[in-house]
Amino acid sequence: MSNDRTIALRVNGRDERATVPAHRTLLEALREIGHREVKSGCEKGDCGACAVLLDGMAVDSCLTLAWTAEGKEVTTVLGLGDLDALHPVQEAFSEGGAAQCGYCTPGIIIASKAILDENPNPSEDDIRVGLSGNLCRCTGYTKVFEAVREAAATLRGAESGR
Ligand code: FES
Ligand code: FES
Repeated sequence: MSNDRTIALRVNGRDERATVPAHRTLLEALREIGHREVKSGCEKGDCGACAVLLDGMAVDSCLTLAWTAEGKEVTTVLGLGDLDALHPVQEAFSEGGAAQCGYCTPGIIIASKAILDENPNPSEDDIRVGLSGNLCRCTGYTKVFEAVREAAATLRGAESGR
């Protein structure tokens, strides 16, 4: 007898359903329903490639059981903006050459968004600590840190311009 259950997920503002066993991770469920923008790296909480926002908080989706996301808002990197209207974090990564590889970048952008949601003016240390759960194996962190500073400045400018 199958122990699958159908769960309702809200992903990037849209209602979606996934039929999964109780032990299925959010990472696996998201990818099964087509969210290949959420990357599967270590699958044990080490690399941050699978990061998504869950009710605004960055989590490793490989360590999150899918059913625990029911009733919560899941945001992937595609939910932040699109090619016609990039989120300032995406814009800064694109313009600053910080989008280095397609594997790490989605999780790094999600973690960067979470840093700036919590603190609009992060110090260098705040940025480094905030991104410490995201591994880049090419070790190219300089442009990433610059992009987060740039996005922070843009977002603060947008706030003060209101
Ligand atoms: S795949 Fe989730 S932290 Fe590496
Ligand atoms: S950005 Fe993916 S290995 Fe460096």
